[in-house]
Parts: sequence; structure tokens; C-alpha cells
Amino acid sequence: MANMRLDKLLVNTGIGSRKEVKQYIKQGIVMINNNMASDPGMHVDPEKDSIYIDGNKVEYRDFYYIMLNKPKDVISATWDSTDTTVIDLLPPKYGHVDLFPAGRLDKDTEGLILLTNDGKLSHSLLSPKKKVGKTYFAIIDGCVTQRDIDIFKNGIKLEDDFITLPAQLEIIKAGDKSEVYVTIYEGKFHQIKRMFKYIDKKVAYLKRISIGPLVLDQDLELGEFRELTAQEIEALNNI
Ligand code: URA
Repeated sequence: MANMRLDKLLVNTGIGSRKEVKQYIKQGIVMINNNMASDPGMHVDPEKDSIYIDGNKVEYRDFYYIMLNKPKDVISATWDSTDTTVIDLLPPKYGHVDLFPAGRLDKDTEGLILLTNDGKLSHSLLSPKKKVGKTYFAIIDGCVTQRDIDIFKNGIKLEDDFITLPAQLEIIKAGDKSEVYVTIYEGKFHQIKRMFKYIDKKVAYLKRISIGPLVLDQDLELGEFRELTAQEIEALNNI
């Protein structure tokens, strides 16, 4: 990682504004490699130098990865004038990071959203070329059959002439209301709802449970989030 100005690094880690950070340095509570820092413009290497503020180690990260269990009525955007966004559900400590959702869920869809500031990773998760499977649990009005499985497997031509990649449909329970898992490899607008419409069925409930190797943590209640583990980040980077 490149050297950077001490004040910039401290601002980027969310410790405070540039003015507050300068104040901390003036107060003599910022230590670099056991020496008191006195110059906000000094250059530090976040990977090599040990940086402490008031006895607490400063961990510098370029990238953040957060999984969120999105509730219904929350929108997958970074800002909105009326609706609550997925970003609004995070505490102020992430306020200094330009997080965005890697892929969208409809307003009435629940489940796994990855929030990150890593554009490269987000791009590869969403790129149809990478064929990253996204799996959803769905409740369907109507009886889902083996014929539907076959139709999904062959790809479906949607109303806008877009032909989906082969998708997997797994029936958990078939009946007047069926329960299924669906895995798709793109993320077209309302894709799953439109695929079921094609077979004359309606999605009554939809929840995303995984994106490639990343599985929604079952301990997360709706609206809760946690940072990804090092293993989860590595698995996503290996896609
Ligand atoms: N497909 C849909 O129809 N909606 C979603 O939110 C995600 C996939």
C-alpha cells in the first residue's frame, strides 16, 4: 500500500474530521512506531507503521465488505428522498466510507445484500460473464412442477426479448402455495418475478439467500448486518 499523509489516513478510518484529527495530533495522543506524531502532513505506510491513538491501534482498510439482511420496504440505493435505503441501516461509524450495494433487490424482496466500496469485486459479482449464481428462496402462488424446472433449465425469453441463462429451480414443497429455491446467473430487473410470470405463476415472497459462495448468516435478523470474515472475502475474490 502506498504511503499517505497521516491526517488523510486518520480521516479515512473514520476517526474524525480533518480538523479533529489535527487536534488529536496537537494533543500528542497519536503515536507512530512508538514516537509521538507532531506533523499532520507526515507520510505513513498503513501496512508497515504501527499507529495508535490514545493507546488504541488504528486499523486501516481500503475496502469494506458488509452483509445485510435487507427487510421489505427498504430500497437498494445509496440515497433516497423518501424511502429508507440499505445504507441508512448502517451506524455512523461507516459514514466515511462510500459504500454501495453490489446488486439490487426489489423493495419487497428480503435477504442478502453485500455492501462494499470495492468496485472491482462488485463488478465481477454482477458480470454475466462470470456466471455467479444468486440463490433465492421463494413462495409461489400456484403448484410448481417438474415441467417448470425444465422450462427454467432451458432459459426463458422475457417480454423484452432477453433470454435468461439456464436457471435452477428446486421444489421444496409443491401445492396451492409452493416453496422453491431458484438460482439465476444474471440480475435483470424483476428477473425472478418475470420468469414465474412466464409460467403463469406469481411470486408471493422472495428472499435472497446466497451470492456465489457468500451465504446469508442465519443469525442476522431482518435489518441486521455484519462485516464479512477474511474467509468470506477470500472466497469472493476467488470467483
Ligand atoms: N428477481 C426479482 O424479481 N426480484 C428481486 O429482488 C431479485 C430477483
